Amino acid sequence: MLRTLEPELMLAPDQAQAYAEADFSETDDRFVQRFGQLFGRDFVGEIVDLGCGPGNIALRMARAFPDCSVTGVEGSAAMLDLARKRLAAMPETAFRMRFVEATLPTAVLPMHSADAVVSNSLLHHLHDPSVLWLTLRQVAVRRAPVLVVDLRRPETETRARQLVDACAANEPEVLRRDFYNSLLAAFEVDEVEKQLERAGLYGLQVQAVGDRHLEVFGRMPG
Ligand SMILES: C[S@@+](CC[C@H](N)C(=O)[O-])C[C@H]1O[C@@H](n2cnc3c(N)ncnc32)[C@H](O)[C@@H]1O
Repeated sequence: MLRTLEPELMLAPDQAQAYAEADFSETDDRFVQRFGQLFGRDFVGEIVDLGCGPGNIALRMARAFPDCSVTGVEGSAAMLDLARKRLAAMPETAFRMRFVEATLPTAVLPMHSADAVVSNSLLHHLHDPSVLWLTLRQVAVRRAPVLVVDLRRPETETRARQLVDACAANEPEVLRRDFYNSLLAAFEVDEVEKQLERAGLYGLQVQAVGDRHLEVFGRMPG
């Protein structure tokens, strides 16, 4: 099945709200655990979360890595509004976090300022995926840890519908529609391998995870 693009930014307030209310805790917790497993549970530094949405991963990273500061970067004002409301309810963590409104590619982010870069479920939104890999080159310091997790495109539309029914049976229609469109917009493992090769990111590897995800992990070039 060929890739079908979906809109990059999740701009609609009802869309952002449905996303924020959905329970992604299993995959979100796994993301944070995976970062600790790969790069150490005592990681220290500035972590940048690209396409942070309502802050699911950014807020978890800040809690799990208490000696880190976390910057979430997001192009949708509706998503950022939700992220900032959540942050306001976490005063013990708020001083180590900030959310920046920026649509990638952007010149707003300072060069080589991130000690680690993470991103969850952004890649499939990007019409030109090289934007993510070039942004990593822009913001990350040398040898910075990277963890990118995303959906993996199924082989057929029928399989995509089965995944929506299996994983989001009782979710609102707006979320089910977004999930289906996201599966069709996602990449296959070998496509991401080619993207990394073109970007010269030889320290990063990609692998399939479970029935619908892929992960890219490793370190930026030295
Ligand atoms: C599926 S959500 C994932 C949100 C978050 N990372 C999480 O794991 O919950 C994808 C997010 O990426 C944002 N996004 C898409 N394209 C973007 C771009 N070019 N620049 C910045 N944000 C973008 C969307 O607005 C949306 O909030």
